[in-house]
Amino acid sequence: MSELPAFPPGFVFGAATAAYQIEGAAREDGRGPSIWDTYSHEPGRVTGGDTGDVACDHYHRYPEDVALLRGLGVDSYRFSLAWPRIVPDGSGPVNPKGLDFYSRLVDELLAAGIEPAATLYHWDLPQALEDRGGWRVRETAERFAEYAAVVAGHLGDRVPRWITLNEPWCSAFLGYSVGRHAPGAREGRGALAAAHHLLLGHGHAVGALRAAGVREVGITLNLDRNLPATGSPADLAAVTRADTQHNLVWTEPILAGRYPLTEAETWGESLTGADFRREGDLELISRPLDFLGVNYYRPIVVADAPHREADPARRVATDNRYQEVRLSGVRHTAMDWPVVPRGLTDLLVGLKERYGDALPPVHVTENGSAEDDVPAADGTVHDADRVSYLRDHLTALRAAMDAGVDVRGYYVWSLLDNFEWAHGYSKRFGIVRVDYDTLERTPKDSYHWYRALIAAHRA
Ligand code: FCB
Repeated sequence: MSELPAFPPGFVFGAATAAYQIEGAAREDGRGPSIWDTYSHEPGRVTGGDTGDVACDHYHRYPEDVALLRGLGVDSYRFSLAWPRIVPDGSGPVNPKGLDFYSRLVDELLAAGIEPAATLYHWDLPQALEDRGGWRVRETAERFAEYAAVVAGHLGDRVPRWITLNEPWCSAFLGYSVGRHAPGAREGRGALAAAHHLLLGHGHAVGALRAAGVREVGITLNLDRNLPATGSPADLAAVTRADTQHNLVWTEPILAGRYPLTEAETWGESLTGADFRREGDLELISRPLDFLGVNYYRPIVVADAPHREADPARRVATDNRYQEVRLSGVRHTAMDWPVVPRGLTDLLVGLKERYGDALPPVHVTENGSAEDDVPAADGTVHDADRVSYLRDHLTALRAAMDAGVDVRGYYVWSLLDNFEWAHGYSKRFGIVRVDYDTLERTPKDSYHWYRALIAAHRA
């Protein structure tokens, strides 16, 4: 471990997963359908026609997975709660069996000496709410507030760290504009309304969690490190639009209590007469947080581009005149994502520069890499590329801390190979291999490496 810089005492090492990606048991014990059940069952949406029906079968195998976490020695485990397991119709009766599952999981974690960190929403909206408009409508934020209150009342005394939303950019823009995530819509105004209602739902959930007296509340954002393809004014302006859509749309309301100053230039017609915003919303959205969760995988190189649609009425909110350029000279992971650890340092330092004391302590709530793992004859996986990825990103994280950013924890994505959304089971992010025929779990070299790192830190 000598090549790795030391982390301060109390620094949290963790691992992360999400409900739809691992649980399976999609129709068991009263769970209602979510937008991901619907979407994954639609032909052509997910690679190989994969669905989360069985996934890693974590719903039944959670004791084995908690044992893997205990063996790893992590301080904390980040998982998400499936809203449709707890409120199957999105509103109305609560399903006690759904709550019981998470209660058992939390008890199992606590008995193993692992602090639970729960995400309320990792993309699996109850389908019944999508049928009534989904995140496009304000009602969904109100139903989310009720769900948050139920969960906080039930688990708030045993779960110290709470994350309201995971990567709302994906929910709003991949879900309602690009159409590559559930519910698969391609809209302009709809995606911007979704972004606003997600923010509002977050604000309500902060209130519900505070009322239950939980220790720490935060939100997880996938903030992008956008780099200009060239120094031309056109590319620099494209970076501003990309920053607005990926980052400022969240950080400005949450941390500064205002909408991005660059939003009109970024969204143009899609934003005109944004009647989904109401007075008082920003006060809710900017309620103080105990931490900011940041997910980082790669930087994005941005170049200017013309509108894809000449007709303003047909433009979607993501079509704001930029395109992604492939970075050369660096390794790319199985996702074809460039490996640039330095991007994590720069992202965190940039956040501190922009928000100063208004930036709460940070937890890196996801970081990891998909690799084309090839198991050896004895079933073990020698994933040297993933080990380098993790080591180099932890080093980059430490550099951000040296530069003055208050980072309190790091969660590797992911404990298990799992359902990687539109890629199905074709992309493996786990530090533990899952054989999807037998559901057998096999720790990879990266698991053993991470365990040794944590042990060295403790010693
Ligand atoms: C993030 C998601 C997570 C996982 C990783 C690879 O965007 O939050 O569920 O899919 O990417």
